Amino acid sequence: MKNNNLIRLSSSCYWSMETESLAVDGVDIKLSISQKKLFKFLVKHINKPVLNLDIFYELHDSLDKEFNEKSVRNFITGLRKSVPCLNLVNIYGGYYMLKSEQISKYIKLKEQFFEIIEQSKNPIVVTSPNEYDNPIIYVNDAFCELFGYEYEEVVGQNCRFLHGNDTKQEALERIREAISAQKSVEANIRNYTKDGDMVYEDITISPIFDKQKEKLSYFLGIYKDITSMPLFLEKVQEVL
Ligand SMILES: Cc1cc2nc3c(=O)[nH]c(=O)nc-3n(C[C@H](O)[C@H](O)[C@H](O)COP(=O)(O)O)c2cc1C
Repeated sequence: MKNNNLIRLSSSCYWSMETESLAVDGVDIKLSISQKKLFKFLVKHINKPVLNLDIFYELHDSLDKEFNEKSVRNFITGLRKSVPCLNLVNIYGGYYMLKSEQISKYIKLKEQFFEIIEQSKNPIVVTSPNEYDNPIIYVNDAFCELFGYEYEEVVGQNCRFLHGNDTKQEALERIREAISAQKSVEANIRNYTKDGDMVYEDITISPIFDKQKEKLSYFLGIYKDITSMPLFLEKVQEVL
């Protein structure tokens, strides 16, 4: 096998263009027909985000007939579990990217930026205002940790599920207005975890526009947990 036919996916993981096979630590990994198909497709788009929907179309005869983003996600989750050294990352909930270590500085910078968001201690959410009901398309780990949900449980939902029945909040009115005016807003809001515990957040929501700054593409929400703040204020008042 010639070296120039090998794509280095990580330090221990190589894809051979020649034999269309995956090797981990020098040992060939047995792939199903659909997994092989997926690799061939992702390798064509190495280091570039590929739309979940495009993956579905590529694999549609091996996956469920009816389009279901979840089926693609489950398929890829299975693959990532069986080959953990694979750098196959999910981006904003709607894309996947197979990463190769033979990458340009520019792409590396982009990846690092993604890692920064992924590892931020501040919970982060991204929504898609051009889709029906402005669904969540990405949350980072800190978001899942704070609210006690799995990634798959929150993507696709509007953020309003977080306040549950606690609808009489002045902050919600301000958020609603800012969203329809495509403006940024900062508000303190009472949200609820999956277990039903109230958490108090300072959230900053920013509209994100395309490069020409013309068309609204996303809303970005960055949270700061201030649950202990009311307690703190009570204590200060007690002292005064
Ligand atoms: C990025 C972003 C983050 C949001 N985060 C929350 C949140 O944490 N809790 C919440 O109740 N609503 C949140 N919202 C607001 C809701 O999505 C929704 O706009 C709000 O409930 C008012 O609209 P409604 O009257 O249609 O429910 C967020 C909205 C955006 C765009």
